[in-house]
Amino acid sequence: MRILRFPRTMQREAQRWQRQGLRVGFVPTMGYLHEGHLSLVREARRQVGNRGIVVLSIYVNPTQFAPTEDLSKYPRDFAQDCRLCREAGVDVIFAPTDADMYAGRDAGEYTTYVVEEGLTRGLEGGSRPTHFRGVTTVVAKLFHCVLPEVSVFGAKDWQQAAVVRRMVKDLQFPIRIVVAPTTRESDGLAMSSRNRYLQPAERAQATVLWRAQQWARREVRKARPMGRSKPSDGSPAGVPAEALRRGVEALVGACPDARLDYVEFIEPETLRPVEWVRRGCRIVLAVFVGRTRLIDNGAL
Ligand code: PAF
Repeated sequence: MRILRFPRTMQREAQRWQRQGLRVGFVPTMGYLHEGHLSLVREARRQVGNRGIVVLSIYVNPTQFAPTEDLSKYPRDFAQDCRLCREAGVDVIFAPTDADMYAGRDAGEYTTYVVEEGLTRGLEGGSRPTHFRGVTTVVAKLFHCVLPEVSVFGAKDWQQAAVVRRMVKDLQFPIRIVVAPTTRESDGLAMSSRNRYLQPAERAQATVLWRAQQWARREVRKARPMGRSKPSDGSPAGVPAEALRRGVEALVGACPDARLDYVEFIEPETLRPVEWVRRGCRIVLAVFVGRTRLIDNGAL
């Protein structure tokens, strides 16, 4: 396994792979790797096969953090990340520095960003207005360095995956985006580098994101399936989003250290909120547990 630090070195290597006709699978991360990331590595390997190259980037991207957010505290453990990557069969770690990724930014000499203007409006984009500009910018830059055929993103960041897909389509990147399922702890908590911030009592309450999804899923599954004859009051099939929202608010409200940031019920592709929630819609939610902000989502 090799570790490349410079964008230009990474790009030259990627161009060499292209000339050799090697398939490249790419997993972008901010490091502090856990089983969820490793499942993305396995998917990338599955996509490109044993003769292909799997690249994983480790870069805590400053432009996707607002000044009030946890950039300086974001957990890092490069030695451990390298060990896990080696065991998982990663071929190359690309770990650039801020100075190379955003040369001149502090002096106002870095002024180019990539902005998606539709899917980023609500949900995470509503709570974190500058977040996706940073994500699309860094992902576009990483794609230019790694030149992958396929890139794997986690379903836990559902909106991020949709936004990246849209960017790839709109800007004609010749890259296939694969979204891999969320990896969960045995009690349902979605794996996240941020889980390490949770105090023991908070950790127990953090399962509320999973419990809320399961509860909403049960409610939707109980409702009349689509296509069945309409009831006499003419109401559409499904469950009113408002009723589900109130239920989720009650579940989160029952946890002393948890505060709901948002919960929405959306069409999975367009991310449009729905008023009537049917099977196949998605619940997406963000919850502060203590000072830690957790997100999750699932199919209903
Ligand atoms: O999901 C993440 O870890 C980050 O948003 C990403 C895609 C690596 C961009 O910094």
